[in-house]
Order: sequence, then structure tokens, then C-alpha cells
Amino acid sequence: MEGSVEGSGTSTPLGKPKESQGPPGSVWPKELIALEPGESAWQVALKKIQELSDSGHPDPFMVADLGVLASHHRAFCQALPRVSPFYAVKCNSSVWVLRVLDTLGTGFDCASQVSLELGLGTAAPRTLADTCLGTRVCKNPWHLSQPSPRLVLRLLTKDSESIFPLSTKFGASLEACERLLKSARDLGLAVVGTSFHVGSNCQTPHNFRQAIADCRRVFEMGRAFGHDMSLLDIGGGFPGGEGCEPQFEEMARVINAALAQDFPEGSGVEIIAEPGRFYAASVCMAAVNIIAKKAVLESGGRRKLLYYLNDGHYGTFRLCLREPVPRMPIVVKELCSDPPLFPCTLYGPTCDAFDKLFREEVQLPELDVGDWLVFPSMGAYTSSMSSTFNGFPPASTYYAMEPELRPGMETVQKRKKKKGKGMNVSGQSE
Ligand SMILES: Cc1ncc(COP(=O)(O)O)c(C=O)c1O
Repeated sequence: MEGSVEGSGTSTPLGKPKESQGPPGSVWPKELIALEPGESAWQVALKKIQELSDSGHPDPFMVADLGVLASHHRAFCQALPRVSPFYAVKCNSSVWVLRVLDTLGTGFDCASQVSLELGLGTAAPRTLADTCLGTRVCKNPWHLSQPSPRLVLRLLTKDSESIFPLSTKFGASLEACERLLKSARDLGLAVVGTSFHVGSNCQTPHNFRQAIADCRRVFEMGRAFGHDMSLLDIGGGFPGGEGCEPQFEEMARVINAALAQDFPEGSGVEIIAEPGRFYAASVCMAAVNIIAKKAVLESGGRRKLLYYLNDGHYGTFRLCLREPVPRMPIVVKELCSDPPLFPCTLYGPTCDAFDKLFREEVQLPELDVGDWLVFPSMGAYTSSMSSTFNGFPPASTYYAMEPELRPGMETVQKRKKKKGKGMNVSGQSE
């Protein structure tokens, strides 16, 4: 298929990038696409679109650019030098994402038994003991019987300005903390610190500042009850996706100032975070195909288009219905320079009328069955939340990686081979 990419009115020829391979004799995993110097994940996506269209099976897919994890890890460590990141496995639990993060040296926040097994199965042996946290707030009794009870008290935070608030479900108020710390002491349980989560995709750094100040008060209360308070977990909630950098940097500046005030260097408190979205969001782009179309003339003469796509709410776009603003796709099609736009509703493929991608309409040009849309920044809470409802399998993911990350991945691959046991791309034991 020859064509072009239409985004914000500009066209780019599709081109035909050649298939990338690992060097001869290397242990480069066959599931990974090794990007040639200068080649991008976007080119990989265009090549797949062409292949799938030619094959007559234009199934939805994702392309993951694993190199993005390295740049985001660098940005996180630079912006928050006192905070150790424990990546939230639930956000994108692809084994390749976890392996790359392990080579970069992050820990893992594992909020379930399966996440814990994934984290433990991925982490290098040197770090096993201190690499995986079990952070789920409501643990069932069996899970509670497994670890030694070193407790972290989760605080309620103000999170109304976050896109996905969590405090209606989790967190103790300051008033409740005193009682809980006393009960723990009376039961002989060790409380070692506090945690909070300002809500996912937090829109204001000030909620971090308030939560850190609250933690300081709870540290004082805990110490008064004889607890050895030494761990501060500032949770997740950092923004993610293309263009999030200025918002993240501002957030980091406020967090650093709050830490300097309430937990200054030399205070002996270890500070950790559980970022998910910040690391994973811009790793993946999702490509979907238009499988049906309907034009509707509304009263008043407004022409509206309904596009039916082969991925939707029950697949990759599960969380998008809860987002306030629809995401804008890139249209992969040769179009005139300034095509007229129409209000469009994007539906997923299942029989459920609730299965649409976004609450609101998006403005798109007139397209045809067989055309492709690509959504950037689809790496967070997408594949990990997708289901097989109505018999539609989750979209396949192609993993692309720049040459610089190759040595680290080859080391991981050798380690897995030596162990004789590992995970394949879908997370099943090899
Ligand atoms: C306990 C906990 N930690 C970390 C995260 C990751 O949050 P985010 O992706 O917003 O960084 C979540 C997300 O819900 C969570 O519930």
C-alpha cells in the first residue's frame, strides 16, 4: 500500500522500511524488532499497516518503542534524585517492558500475586530481595500470611483534580492514623512508613505537597508509638504521554521542595515512588482499522459520521471512556491539504452499544472502510486492561528497540536461558 500520513494537515509518504534483525550469532530475541539507526517505531507501525492491509487481515495492533522506557527512566531519576522508582506493573505488564525496566534498574510495584510473580520472574537475582513491593491496599488473608508483616500506612489524599481519583476507595484520614498506629503497636505489628497515591494522572502538584506534609505528621505519630518509621512511598499519579514533560518537571520541582522541608536529606528516610503512566504511556501506539461506517444527517442538517473500528472499549481503549477529553488519532491516508472535518463517533467492534472509544465526538475527515487510525501514547492501562469480550482477541504488540539497549537485553536473555525458565512475550512460561 502506498499512501501518506495525515496529521494536523501534513502528509508524509508511507515508504517501505526494511525488516530489522539482530546481528548474526547474537542472542537477540526473535520477538523484538531491532530498529536500525535512524529508524523509528512509527516506521515500524507504517510497515505493519502495509503488511496487514496487503494480507487482507487488517487486525488491530500496537507498536511498543522500548527505548522510550530508558529516556523516561533517565528523566525520572534526574528530576527526582532522592526518589527510587518502583514501576507499577499493573500499568503495562508486558514481559518486555519489565525486562527493559529491570536492566535500567527500577524496582517493581506488584499489586497482586500474579504481578509479584511477574516482577520476581523478571528482576535480576542480585536485587530480588529489595526489588519487588507488594502494594495492594486490600490484601486477602492468604496473601497477608505470606510476607513478614512490615506495614506501610496508606494516607487519604486530596485527589479531586486527578483524572482517575482513588481516595474514595483507599486511604486513612489523619484522625484515623493515630488509632491505627496504636492498634498496630498493641498487636505487635511493625509500621515502617507511610504511602499515598494522589490519583492517576494528577493535574496539580500541590496534592503531592499536602500529602507529603501529612506523611510527616504521621511519621511523628508513629514514632511516638514506638514504630521505626523509615519509608516514605509517594505513589504514582505522575502525568504520562507525549508532551507531558513540562507538567512532570513542575510536579517534580514541587515534590523536591516538599521533601526538602518535611524529609530533609540526612533524615534517614528512604523515599520511593510507584510510577506507572509516566513510564509506560508513550511507549505504545495503537493502530486500528475502520471496519464499517455510517453517515447520519441530524436534525438541523449536521452531517455526522459513525466509524466502527476493530478495537474498542473492551480491548485497548478500556480507560479512554473515563477520560474527559477524547484522544486525537493520526489518520493514515493520503488526503487533500485541508480536508473538511466532521463530528465522528468512534465505536468498537462488539455488540455492546456502550463499546465506543470516547465519551465525546472527535473531528475527523471523511474516511473509508479499510482506512487506519493510529493513536499515540497508548501504553498505560491499555493491553493490561483489555479483555476478550465478544470473542475479540487483544491486539498484538510488536516490540521495537533501538540498538543502544541491545547489550542490556542480550544479558537478560542469556540470564533467562541459563535459568532454563522465563517468560515469552505473552507472559506465559517458556
Ligand atoms: C497503589 C498504586 N500504585 C501505583 C499506581 C500507578 O499509578 P500511575 O500510573 O498513576 O503512576 C497505581 C495506579 O492505580 C496504584 O493504585
